[in-house]
Formats: sequence, structure tokens, C-alpha cells
Amino acid sequence: MHVKAEFLVSSAHVGQCPNSDLPEYAFIGRSNVGKSSLINMLAGNSSLAKTSGTPGKTRLINHFNMHHGEHHWLLADLPGYGYAKVSKKDRAAFEIMIRNYLTKRENLVAAFVLIDGRHKPQQIDMEFMAWLGKNEIPFAIVFTKADKLSSAERAAHLKSYTQEMLKTWEFLPEYMHTSAETGFGRDALLQYINEVNASLTR
Ligand code: GTP
Ligand code: MG
Repeated sequence: MHVKAEFLVSSAHVGQCPNSDLPEYAFIGRSNVGKSSLINMLAGNSSLAKTSGTPGKTRLINHFNMHHGEHHWLLADLPGYGYAKVSKKDRAAFEIMIRNYLTKRENLVAAFVLIDGRHKPQQIDMEFMAWLGKNEIPFAIVFTKADKLSSAERAAHLKSYTQEMLKTWEFLPEYMHTSAETGFGRDALLQYINEVNASLTR
């Protein structure tokens, strides 16, 4: 089904984010993992969120108004973490911005931690998910760029990734595979969001 998406506003910190009672979801993850591209894929609009081959493109919290059937929610596109070429000072500022947003944004329902589906577990993502767990922020994992892997490669990657996760996690977070190039995983992601939305109004 068609998703109607419109850009709402950019904010430099959580205090500037729009007042809203709508359920909100956030895309987070390392720079260049495909957060902005995934928003465009959901929306079917390649120019909605700015994407770039150069990491560090998104520098503000960008809010989008999303309509899908009877569901209405907000999506926040966040700057990536861990980009080495951003100055140490900027990196620390992004980190604080992201963590403040995640702990203080009252209508945030869940975060999606985007992980490049080709990469083996990275310490920075593991630490970030551990921090989310510690702060009781619900999240699901989205393995991006699925078009770069065969289904056998995806399965092998998932197996080794989850083995690593289970060293520190009692149970696995929900996960899905997506491709912004082909639209793979779009329905699963929308269904996940709709189910969470529905559970909120029950
Ligand atoms: P920052 O804003 O810098 O944190 O990056 P981001 O996570 O928003 O990544 P962005 O969406 O800008 O995409 C980074 C690069 O990856 C771009 O060159 C995209 O075209 C590419 N890309 C994103 N998603 C996919 C995908 O599913 N498949 C392929 N093949 N390329 C992708
Ligand atoms: Mg971006």
C-alpha cells in the first residue's frame, strides 16, 4: 500500500523536535548504512531525505510525517554515529544529540538500528545496542543493502551475527532485511510498524 510521507522539520536537538502525540520511530545506525535511503524507499520518493555516498550527510534530526492506510506516525532520520572522518568534537556532539533524543523523546515508540547486512558484527553497533537495552529503549535490527547479497549469503550472515549477539543478549531483538534499491523488506518493515501502532491503541 502507498505511504504518504512529508518532511516536517529539522532539529538540532531533542528540545527543538516538534510537539506530537503521534507514535514515533527512529532510524539510527552508523554513517552511510542507509538510514535516509530507507526512508525514501518506504515513501517511494527518492528525493525526500537527502542521501549521499559520503558518510556524515545527515547532521540534524529530520522528522517526517508518515501515513499508511489508517496509520499515522512520525519517523525521525538521525545523523549516523561513529563516522571517523567527522572531527572528534562533532562526533561527540552527534553522540550526545542522538542519546538525548533517544532517552528524552516522549512519543518515541521504537528505534530501528540499521546495520549493513554485509558487515560482521562491529563493536560500535554492539555497544550501541547494549546501551539501548540498558536504557530500556525498544528496538529492532534492520540489515540494510540486502541487494548486495544472495539469499544464501544473507542467511549465513544472519547466523554469524546472531551467534555474536547471543554472547551478550539473552534473546535476539527482532530483525529484518531490507534493500532501498529493490524495495525488498518494505512490507515487513511497514507491517512491523503497523503492528506496534495497533498495539498502542488497543
Ligand atoms: P548518514 O546520513 O551519512 O549517516 O548516512 P545514511 O545512513 O543516511 O546513508 P544514506 O541513505 O545516505 O546512504 C549511503 C549510501 O548507501 C548511498 O550511496 C546510498 O545510495 C547507498 N545505499 C543505501 N541503501 C542502499 C541499499 O539498500 N542498497 C544499495 N546497494 N545501496 C544503498
Ligand atoms: Mg542520512
